[in-house]
Amino acid sequence: MAELAKVTTAKLTEMKQKGQRITALTAYDAPTAKLLNEAGVDVILVGDSVGNVKLGYENTIPVTLEEMIHHVRAVKRGNSRALLVADMPFLTYEIDVKEAARAAGRLIKEAGAEAVKLEGGIEIAPTIKELLRINIPVMGHLGLTPQAVHRLGGYKVQGRRPQEAEKMLTDSRILEGAGVFAIVLEAIPAELASEITRKVAVPTIGIGAGAECDGQILVSDDMLGMGDQISPKFVKRYANLRPEMLKAVQQYVKEVQDAAFPGPEHAYTRPAAKAQH
Ligand code: KIV
Repeated sequence: MAELAKVTTAKLTEMKQKGQRITALTAYDAPTAKLLNEAGVDVILVGDSVGNVKLGYENTIPVTLEEMIHHVRAVKRGNSRALLVADMPFLTYEIDVKEAARAAGRLIKEAGAEAVKLEGGIEIAPTIKELLRINIPVMGHLGLTPQAVHRLGGYKVQGRRPQEAEKMLTDSRILEGAGVFAIVLEAIPAELASEITRKVAVPTIGIGAGAECDGQILVSDDMLGMGDQISPKFVKRYANLRPEMLKAVQQYVKEVQDAAFPGPEHAYTRPAAKAQH
């Protein structure tokens, strides 16, 4: 089968223009990145969701730049075709534009990301411009922005009130004006996501934002059913791997305890001694 061409930010713009849906998933390690490439996923996001999905944190806030670099490097080693986007963790881009440029630069230069994602609207527009000035493509993120969980008072649907919806529409235009190549819309009413999608020229990638975004993203572990938490309403489980994994590990434990594993077929033997003349 012919290899699909490498996905670039320009390719995503073209896909929106042609009405081709964009597929995106998260990955945090090399084998998952390889699997996503084999399946033809367009965008791999090394999300700061690595904090709660893989590192055992309560939320994304404690995730450090060093942790992101570590995981982006791993994903880079497994990636070939997808556009590789890395989340900028909390407190690496909100305070100072130059500090943000240095942090984003490390994700690109040391880890191998091809773009970064930042949460927020008008308040981060100067930062987006600075990153573009040093040639770092930026993906925006509006709606339920997990790094703002304490201000938002939990993981709640955003943009239900007319004023909130109006602000999000304005923010999406500001992000577009600042130069983002795409915008993630998380947990917002489908009608609002549809309106934003129609009103901005850059692709929108929805997660809990209805069917009319230009693309969709999910956390891989959620859609594969690998976690032990209840998933949000917008997650579709395409597989339920955790019970399978648990069953396999329980069987291993039992077989080792019962001396049923390893069997003769898993054991090495000494070469047969040569006959002496
Ligand atoms: O961190 C993450 O995984 C994300 C996606 C859910 C969009 O930001």
